[in-house]
Amino acid sequence: MPDNQAKTLCVVGAGNMGHQIALQGALCGFQVYCNDINESTLRGAEEFARNWLAGRVQKGKMTAEEARAVSDRLIFTQDLDEAARHSDLVIEAIVEILEVKRKLFKRLDEICPAHTILATNSSYIVSSKLADAVARPDKVINMHFFNPALVMKLVEVVKGPHVSEETVEIVFEVCRALQKTPVRVNKEIYGFVVNRVFSAITKEACYLLDQGIASIEDIDIAVRNGLGHPLGPFELLDLTGIDLEYNVLMEKYQSTGNLNDKPSPALVERWAKGEYGRKTRRGFYDYNSK
Ligand SMILES: NC(=O)c1ccc[n+]([C@@H]2O[C@H](COP(=O)([O-])OP(=O)(O)OC[C@H]3O[C@@H](n4cnc5c(N)ncnc54)[C@H](O)[C@@H]3O)[C@@H](O)[C@H]2O)c1
Repeated sequence: MPDNQAKTLCVVGAGNMGHQIALQGALCGFQVYCNDINESTLRGAEEFARNWLAGRVQKGKMTAEEARAVSDRLIFTQDLDEAARHSDLVIEAIVEILEVKRKLFKRLDEICPAHTILATNSSYIVSSKLADAVARPDKVINMHFFNPALVMKLVEVVKGPHVSEETVEIVFEVCRALQKTPVRVNKEIYGFVVNRVFSAITKEACYLLDQGIASIEDIDIAVRNGLGHPLGPFELLDLTGIDLEYNVLMEKYQSTGNLNDKPSPALVERWAKGEYGRKTRRGFYDYNSK
């Protein structure tokens, strides 16, 4: 990699996470290609960036010229070859389904230059499950951002057994250049650090709800005011996506067979109705009137 420094990023998946990771990259001076297979999601991401930049200009936080420069550095394309072929680092932010990610990594391995690092933003899938799909396992790494990615500072960087120290170093440099705070996770573990703690909290919150111990609102109020969390567990589940949490718990349950790992009735009920949270305007809360 030239100067040991990544300059061109490719973000694959322009959904909840990807569109903001891409914009953050362009804001921090990277050339960014943002790709999605879904055209309307890609257009939505482009519109979000345009409106967000216009808002900054309107508030006097950025000049129109600066906003234009950011916009010029951010290219949206449905063409994966165009998006990935010049990249130093790819950040994958597509659906949380292992086989879909493996297929993408295999394709990226064919398209990208030999030096390109292939990072996954997966919340739970460790990169060793993707590394054997490519010919550069030492350059496949977890780079886990938090939602909303424009705001949240933390990035968990996971040093799987196949990952080279050079890859970890470069990813740390990129995180800092993105004005994020990277933490090193020394071993691969399901859910890394933050989501393990979050899972324990949401599991207990769902249990309390299922048992009728307290309402959604009161559990959120209790956690916000009693633990000092900015959001309650149900507010956070609505933000991160009930479908994501459901898929993650089902995958865990299928691998362990432990009934304790099964998603709770409160979660399953909403998932079955397609009420995934903010993105569908309804989850634990109703956002239609908000
Ligand atoms: N939602 C969160 O709070 C959060 C936080 C941290 C990490 N993550 C992780 O980020 C990843 C994405 O999550 P999300 O919430 O943004 O999902 P999302 O469903 O909002 O977006 C995923 C996007 O990927 C696109 N996509 C699917 N297959 C593709 C392919 N082969 N090529 C290109 N695009 C493809 C979809 O069209 C969709 O727009 C997941 O791995 C998730 O675990 C999510």
